[in-house]
Amino acid sequence: MITKVIKINDEEPVDRSKLREAAQIIRDGGLVAFPTETVYGLGANALDAEAAKKIYAAKGRPSDNPLIAHIADMEGLKPLVREIPESAKKLARAFWPGPMTLILYKSRLVPDTTSGGLDTVAVRMPSDPIAHALIELSGVPIAAPSANTSGRPSPTLASHVKDDMDGRIDMILDGGAVKVGVESTIVDLTGETAAILRPGAVTEAMLKEVLGKVDLDPALKGPLAENVHPKAPGMKYRHYAPKAELVLVDGQPDGVVSTINAKVREAIDANKRVGIIATEESRNRYPLGIVKSIGRRSSEETIAHNLFRVLREFDDAGVDIIYSESFKSDDLGQAIMNRLMKAAGYHTIFVM
Ligand code: TXA
Ligand code: MG
Repeated sequence: MITKVIKINDEEPVDRSKLREAAQIIRDGGLVAFPTETVYGLGANALDAEAAKKIYAAKGRPSDNPLIAHIADMEGLKPLVREIPESAKKLARAFWPGPMTLILYKSRLVPDTTSGGLDTVAVRMPSDPIAHALIELSGVPIAAPSANTSGRPSPTLASHVKDDMDGRIDMILDGGAVKVGVESTIVDLTGETAAILRPGAVTEAMLKEVLGKVDLDPALKGPLAENVHPKAPGMKYRHYAPKAELVLVDGQPDGVVSTINAKVREAIDANKRVGIIATEESRNRYPLGIVKSIGRRSSEETIAHNLFRVLREFDDAGVDIIYSESFKSDDLGQAIMNRLMKAAGYHTIFVM
């Protein structure tokens, strides 16, 4: 299969004539990768079981890991769910369109392939103008996981999608770099209390402001014990993983820098290629190894934006091991540290 790449200016209004072919592919049961404000998605008609199956095949994704259905407006939500609870209305009003996914009981319209056999469905209304226009023009909800090969860091540039999906999908819409850089916050609304299954740019504090009480899925609190099953099936996989081993170093800033420098020297002596994830503030303090700045420590937005790109760049550089600074785990930092911890398999060195 030849994967067609179409460049689209992500300024509004979006040139819809460039999206007609993509919308037709979706209606015909094909696969189109498209930008959203969080990461690139790999889209298919969410109501077409055969189309949704192609997503699993292209990604090499386990079929028990359900997909998110993307909608363009609130009218698009009704047919997908059994009912819309008050909590969903409140969150939708506050954060849609935007980087938040809601888990609700599904209607019979949603095929089991889309929902991974669960009786719930994940729904999101993205704010990216290209994503929005594509869903509208397609006239169907679009099922879309992140457009990476299963187990690799999520794509934040169209070139990342091409690296993973070239020849496996019909089309890539190239809308440039995404805004946020980490996947949406997933909020489960099927229980007594709303629960965060995956942290993202809609933070715990923002959700609490709207709902009052919000729980954290136990799976977010650390490495999974054998008997703990995350409610979001995807959170059990060692996701977001670079090819190299990743080790986080946490603690007092000067101690972190000197510990990383010592570890890097050891690794180089052992003939390893070493990467360092630093920040704008610290990048000049590492004399050895391949140093990449992930953003400004003073701006979590820049760190989230660059995170997956930096992990992919280290893959391309062929490093054996990466040492990374750690970050605060509140607000957007909660999402950043969740992704870094999972990429590191929770391997952290604590420095006094
Ligand atoms: O930002 C995002 O959410 C991106 C863009 C493309 O929208 N999409 C994304 O999809 O990250 P994906 O498939 O990579 O991650 C979806 C996560 C998985 O962990 C999956 O297990 C979980 O959502 N999920 C989907 N449906 C669910 C359900 N019914 N109950 C619990 N978790 C669900
Ligand atoms: Mg994913």
